This record gives sequence, C-alpha cells and structure tokens, in this order.
Amino acid sequence: MRMVDIIQQKRDGGRLTREQLYFAVQGFTKGDIPDYQMSAFAMAVFFRGMDAAEIADLTMAMVNSGDVVSLAGIRGTKVDKHSTGGVGDKTSLIVVPLVAAAGVPVAKMSGRGLGHTGGTVDKLESIPGFHIELENEQFVRNVNEHKMALVGQSGNLAPADKKLYALRDVTATVNSLPLIASSIMSKKIAAGADAIVLDVKVGSGAFLKSMAEAEELAATMVSIGSSLKRKTIAVLSDMSEPLGTEVGNANEVREAIAVLKGEGDARLTELCLNLGAHMAVAGGVYADYAAAYGALNGLLASGEALRTFRTFIEAQGGEGGIVDDPGLLPQARYQVKVRAEQEGFVQAIDAESVGVAAMLLGAGRARKEDAIDYAAGVSLLKKTGDAVRYGDVLAVIHSNSENNQESIGRLVAAYVIGADRPAPVPIVHKVIG
Ligand code: URA
Repeated sequence: MRMVDIIQQKRDGGRLTREQLYFAVQGFTKGDIPDYQMSAFAMAVFFRGMDAAEIADLTMAMVNSGDVVSLAGIRGTKVDKHSTGGVGDKTSLIVVPLVAAAGVPVAKMSGRGLGHTGGTVDKLESIPGFHIELENEQFVRNVNEHKMALVGQSGNLAPADKKLYALRDVTATVNSLPLIASSIMSKKIAAGADAIVLDVKVGSGAFLKSMAEAEELAATMVSIGSSLKRKTIAVLSDMSEPLGTEVGNANEVREAIAVLKGEGDARLTELCLNLGAHMAVAGGVYADYAAAYGALNGLLASGEALRTFRTFIEAQGGEGGIVDDPGLLPQARYQVKVRAEQEGFVQAIDAESVGVAAMLLGAGRARKEDAIDYAAGVSLLKKTGDAVRYGDVLAVIHSNSENNQESIGRLVAAYVIGADRPAPVPIVHKVIG
C-alpha cells in the first residue's frame, strides 16, 4: 500500500477502506508517513468529505494509535461529557459533581485551554493544592468512592489525533467536519466511557459558527458513537456570547460554586441541568429526562452537589474550604472597570474577543508552553439584552498588571450596543441522539 495512492483516491472523490485508513494513521503516528503527505490527505478530506463508515474507521484508527483506557474497575455505567470548546465554559466544574451526587460515576479526562478558549484542567489548578495527576489505581478508587475523579489527558491517548491536529492547525484543515468529529470521538472512545454527552457549541465563540454546520457535526458524532456501541447524545448550545458572567480560571471556579449553591447565572444553570439530566439518564440512574432534571435541581437546592464538589477537591489534594470561602482562591491585584461608551441595549457580546481579552491578561495561553495567571480574567456585568447607560460598567478586568489597554479595547469592541432590546436566544437549541 502507498500513501500517495490513498491521497489520490480521496482527492478524486473515492471512498477509503478501513485498511487504507489504518495504514495512513499508523504510518503517520510512527513517523513513516511524513507531514506533507498527511497534510495533503487532510486537504483531500477537507474538500471531498467522508461517509459515515469512513469517519467511524478513521476514528477507530486514531483510537488504536495509542493507549485505550479501561474503566472496567469502576462499577456502573461510566458517562463522559465533552464540549467542543467555548468562552466561559465552566460546565464540567458544575455538571460533573452534580451527576456524581446523583450516583452517576464520572471518570473524566479533560484538557487545558489553548487560544481564546479555556480548559477545565487550568480552572481546577487555580484551586490551592489541587493536583490533576492521579495514578490509574487512585483514579479508579476515587471514582468508586466519590463517584468522580478528573485527570489531565494522558500523553498517549489518541496520539495520532494530537499530531494530526497540529498539522491541521497550520494547513487550514481544522474546519473539516469528518476531521473534527473523528478527532473528538477518538479521544472520548479511548478514554473508556460507556456513554457520552456532547455539548456542541454554536455561535461567535464556537468553533463552528453556523447552526447547520453544528447540527451536522453533532449528528455525525452521535452516529460514530452509536456505531461503536456508545450511547451518544449531543446538546447544541448557544455560544453567541460567553457562557455565564466569568471568563478566566479562579473566577470561573467562583462562578461554578455559585451555580452549585443554586445562586448562579440562570442560562448557565439551565445548560448544566440539561447536560446533567442527559448524563444521568444515559447512566441509568433516572428513567427519563424530566425526572432527572427535577432530581438534579433538588441536588443543587439541598447542597448535595456542592458537598460532592468539595469532597472531589479534597480527594485530589485541593483546599475544600473554597466552597465556603471563595476568597481563598487567587485574587488579582488590580480590578479595572470597563465602561459603556454609548446607551441602549446589549445586542451581542463577541465571545471570541472576550476570550482573547482574557488570554492577554494571562488567563489563557497564546502558546502551549505559556504559564497561566490563575487570578486573571474578566467579569461580564452586562449580558445580551441588558439595558446600558453611558458610563455604566460593562465588565471588570482582573489583572496582576497595570497595563491592560489591549484587553480593555477588545472588551469595549466586543460589546455591540443598539437601540432595541434583542429577542432572547435559548441556551439549548436542540438535542440530537
Ligand atoms: N476539538 C477537538 O478535539 N478536535 C477538533 O478537531 C476540534 C475541536
């Protein structure tokens, strides 16, 4: 078999066999197939697409390129969750303890943030003492005892995806539906879950901006999961503005605690209950969505979800006292108010610009090796639909630097203010699966 023939076949619109896809993925992972051939392959897929069977085969080839985690030592149906990435997306910090409190075991592997989007691992590491590395035995024990544990993604989980993603990033082939679907699903399958709930973001802060693209991506991932016997549900959720009011790390943990106390942003709470209810049904704990939603709401109100979060933090070495006193989390030296320069109603808040503003403050990384400033971030005091008068505080910047001009400029530009109050946009657009 020759890689050049595989590229040509796809370039000419042909379909590839399982053997061809394994040959390409294995050869690329080992370094036998050079980057330039894999880049040409990615571009051929970008233009010609793939059918469902090809996407499933590509996914499995990437799963088998590295370690496949066995969660057999964990009792019950293991349910994982994955977000396609957004700004202010702290849903895992809320949903995982929430469903764990309901009795669903969650053995979660999460990633770090890159570019304008944040990552769960960085947010958790803002908690003093918290560590993300657990030996496999400890990971399994924590899930059995506390129903939840969260670790960083192992270096050898779907290594083909890691290499291919880096190539796609520099060859304008990220935005390909078969490549995104197989990238996400290969990591989820390799991480060993029995059921997967996908939070597919749609809008300005999302990876795929249009509803049609996001729907097709969701349907494709659901079909990959089902063909591999993993119950998979996709929730299409709104990312036309940042999620909730906090963007950063420690401040997002603070917001997650508020939601777990039943005192958080209504849209964020609604999304977490929706995702959590689908996870709890997939985990076999409740018979249907309505029962699960009601029960999870009760776990927020009773404080049980917050207690589970505290137990989880302490089980991974962190300061559990932050749930009672969020002041124990890192605090920035400077708080800078960003004020409205016109009157009206907030029409939109460009999520990507807010994400970049937070990243420039130190809350995210421009490059993989950059260090995070956990205290840095942005609080959005005005959200879409709010009335604004000249000089009102739109947002507050948390920074350890006195020089925040670029972030201030980006935040002012992110707010679109107009004469009429816009119609409200639902936080959950659609559920597939
Ligand atoms: N997230 C991933 O993990 N992979 C992609 O290709 C896009 C988003």
